[in-house]
Amino acid sequence: MCSVNSHNILPEPPAELKRLSAELANVIRAKIALNGPISFSEYMEMALYEPGLGYYSAGLQKFGEGGDFVTAPQLGNVFARCLAKQIKQVADEFNQYEIIEAGAGSGVLAADLLIALKDKNPPVRYRILERSAHLRQVQKETLVKLVPQWMDRISWLDEPPEENWQGIFLANEVLDALTVERFCIETDGFRQLQVVDGPGGFEWHKGSCPKPLQKQIQAVLSTLEHKPVAGYCSELNSNLPAWLQAVTASLQKGIALFIDYGYTRRDYYLPHRSDGTLICHYRHHAHDDPFKWPGLTDISASVDFTALAEAADFCGLEVSGYTTQAMFLLACGLDEVLAESELLSERERLVVNNQVRSLTLPGEMGERFQVMALSRGLEEDLRDDLRGFSFSDLRHRL
Ligand SMILES: C[S@@+](CC[C@H](N)C(=O)[O-])C[C@H]1O[C@@H](n2cnc3c(N)ncnc32)[C@H](O)[C@@H]1O
Repeated sequence: MCSVNSHNILPEPPAELKRLSAELANVIRAKIALNGPISFSEYMEMALYEPGLGYYSAGLQKFGEGGDFVTAPQLGNVFARCLAKQIKQVADEFNQYEIIEAGAGSGVLAADLLIALKDKNPPVRYRILERSAHLRQVQKETLVKLVPQWMDRISWLDEPPEENWQGIFLANEVLDALTVERFCIETDGFRQLQVVDGPGGFEWHKGSCPKPLQKQIQAVLSTLEHKPVAGYCSELNSNLPAWLQAVTASLQKGIALFIDYGYTRRDYYLPHRSDGTLICHYRHHAHDDPFKWPGLTDISASVDFTALAEAADFCGLEVSGYTTQAMFLLACGLDEVLAESELLSERERLVVNNQVRSLTLPGEMGERFQVMALSRGLEEDLRDDLRGFSFSDLRHRL
């Protein structure tokens, strides 16, 4: 996710959008009035996914210039063309394979992947597991426009499939959109950061920490060399193992690729990240106030890739590779993609070069974004030799 501005002077939303946000705030307020303080994960769930009103459920533009942020597939097709080379390596193991993409955003990654794979063993089915009804519609429109000839292979899923399937599961910037719990360390123990309704809007409240969450926090922090001290606040995705289990249970043979911004656990909980990693986006401005215009603002948290590796273990998946996005794209053949651009006009080459810069520079998406491959049922030589991780494999850091 990229944003252009990082200062806190946010543009004022138009009146009709403020009304939409106020409507969602009233729904959240009613829940607090009924049940008392709610956990941050409950707040985030409603702010992002409340039917018709949440950030991902309401029909507002999110991606690209007219939206709130830009993701790698929105920059152009370079990302998809590299990813297609990793997919092809695994796909060549199968007579027939499928792709399931979770959280497909605008649908442009699906379109660009199908175009890149069209002459190289394309999938027999491309299924999209998407929570947002509005985004499904957006995806359909994108795909009908860009790849009408593939529509008979594309379908949408409400739930992960029950029947076994083989191929590639993809999730670009989906883990960061899953809800997280927030917690703080006090001198006498942990507190759960909850949300209450204050005179000026929603506010943080340090509530008692439920026992299961306490256990999870303890387990995470106990592995750290630099133990966070009183005053330290952060977040934790307590649902990750259950979510991963649900989406990969029927993957019989293949890989699951996760691309997202995040860190290994030891970097996630470094002392200087004493207020966690929560980040909000509104009209290309990044800010840290999740209570600002609920429903109009994206809310996300960085991914703890060590937690993803642990969840993989819980689900019976192998961690087959972990590296930065830059190293992954280079190893997948970014140079070949660039060489193919030699035939383009100077203007088009400039566009490709700008994409490469955004995707790979350390200060942009190159290092903040990381890629993890989980595998099941693959032969050892492929499982430990995935193309995208051949330049750099950081599994030892997890
Ligand atoms: C930040 S956007 C990323 C979109 C797209 N992958 C991209 O890179 O442009 C997050 C996407 O994940 C979807 N999403 C969030 N939670 C999900 C879940 N549990 N299952 C499926 N999709 C989900 C959202 O609706 C949205 O499409």
